[in-house]
Amino acid sequence: MGENFVTVMGSYVTDLAFITDKLPAWGETYMGSGFRMGPGGKGSNQAVAAARAGARVSFISKVGRDLFGDMARKTYRDESIDTAYLYATDSPTGAASIVVHANNAENSIVVVPGACFELTPEEVAEAKPLIASSAAFVAQLELPVETVEFGLRLAHSLGVPTILNPAPGRALPESIFAQCDYMTPNETEAEIITGRKVASIGDAEDAADALLARGVRNVVVTLGARGALVRSATVRELVPAFCAGEVVDTTGAGDAFNGGFAVALAEGRDLVAAVRFGCAVAGISVTRPGTAPSMPHREEVEALLRRA
Ligand code: RIB
Repeated sequence: MGENFVTVMGSYVTDLAFITDKLPAWGETYMGSGFRMGPGGKGSNQAVAAARAGARVSFISKVGRDLFGDMARKTYRDESIDTAYLYATDSPTGAASIVVHANNAENSIVVVPGACFELTPEEVAEAKPLIASSAAFVAQLELPVETVEFGLRLAHSLGVPTILNPAPGRALPESIFAQCDYMTPNETEAEIITGRKVASIGDAEDAADALLARGVRNVVVTLGARGALVRSATVRELVPAFCAGEVVDTTGAGDAFNGGFAVALAEGRDLVAAVRFGCAVAGISVTRPGTAPSMPHREEVEALLRRA
């Protein structure tokens, strides 16, 4: 297993972000105050976060032969991310419409995954040698769930630690839980997956315990400014969030956490230390606009950890 080598399997879409102080109602046109376009998709953002946080990263996905696909390929060249298993299709690359609140930095997103949603289990199987040499395998839920489960099952069968960031939240097949060494839902996702309300820390503890009972070996419920709740057979801890400056855009904070968390696990840090590292990566990303472009580099993360 290659220490410090992380394989991420997931989505690429191009993010179209609109800054506004109000969400328009159906049928309404509203004037926003800003616009940005950049590389996005939860899988791709996590790959960029992991690469900048210090890992060698390979990204398994599929993009179109179009302008947005070119943006993806340029991103991986710039970030030195391996694309041996980045497939191409004539279908259009997906896009996300992101509305960022001008005053409180919250966001709401509509994502149309497009080309990446055509990634098949057979194509993931071709990456078996690559996955086998990874120190961590990371997936999310912007791909077909059959492909996600296939990738997790393959990595798990090869003895590679698996991380499922179950975002966006959806009901999951019962068979997927035992394939997850780590599951990292936020409150909303934990609520959707477990069917229990998750508002308080106590609710998050109950949801985490429910996921452990279904076969996940370690659960991290990310709680935004409240930090991250860590639960396993032996660990019960609330890791505080990091304040690295004024929060300007929370989009992609979960991706920042997961990318950093995967790197720290791949480097052999224990669960709580890895969560702390992930929280530091997320804490910096929210002080900058955008998703992939907001991911910090290793030295910035180390500096924040030292200051704290
Ligand atoms: O997690 C943030 C990401 O979710 C955005 O980049 C957007 O593309 C959606 O996939």
